[in-house]
Amino acid sequence: MRLDKFLSDCGLGTRKQLKEYIKNGMVTVDGNIISKPEFAVDPNKNEILFSGESLTENYSEFRYYILNKPQGVVSATKDNHDKTVLDLIDTGLDKNLAPVGRLDKDTEGLLIITNDGKLTHSLLSPKKHVEKEYVVYTRDKVLDEDIRKLEEGLDIGDEEPTLPAKAFIKQDENGEETLHLILHEGRFHQVKRMLLAVGNEVTFLRRIRMGKLSLTGDLKVGEYRELTKEELSLLQEKNTD
Ligand code: URA
Repeated sequence: MRLDKFLSDCGLGTRKQLKEYIKNGMVTVDGNIISKPEFAVDPNKNEILFSGESLTENYSEFRYYILNKPQGVVSATKDNHDKTVLDLIDTGLDKNLAPVGRLDKDTEGLLIITNDGKLTHSLLSPKKHVEKEYVVYTRDKVLDEDIRKLEEGLDIGDEEPTLPAKAFIKQDENGEETLHLILHEGRFHQVKRMLLAVGNEVTFLRRIRMGKLSLTGDLKVGEYRELTKEELSLLQEKNTD
């Protein structure tokens, strides 16, 4: 890529400012001062310094964010009516970001946002069966019999019944009993439709885990941050099955 494009991706300024920096000899590539903005660089191979500081040491063309999605925003890249999850990620630097899968507008919780299409594909591939864990608040008490049906697989109106899942009751932070549902697939409105199929109704839904990556307490609803290296490796690990 062009040197000025790389510097721009690093958030160092406008194209005009970058041209000045380059002209003023502030940028070196593999130890040589480069004065042409169009000079071709490969940030994965070349050592690029700005004012003596390495820009390539921790460079990655990919960005990975974890968002604690609030209710009321849609999991899309663009929407004519509603705020999207990308409107919440306002670094101003990243291009081609997209959410990994979807949460309904009224669902809260863990959503990964990245421009790494390969990772997105592997997390969403039906063959990979990546686990998704939800905390489910329901209109009526969930009975043992319902747990059994949710775990076995249910007819929710699709061609195939749902895959076997894990379901259990756990107290939330306020001592309220909630259903935890762990799915290995991601069909449209799946949790809501599964609860409807056992004669109940979801009143509130939060996703707390995807694969081996869990939502952490430091992220309040509506907040996001970059994934740590450790978290990224958790996400890249082969999940389940
Ligand atoms: N299942 C649902 O019904 N909604 C979600 O947002 C996610 C899973």
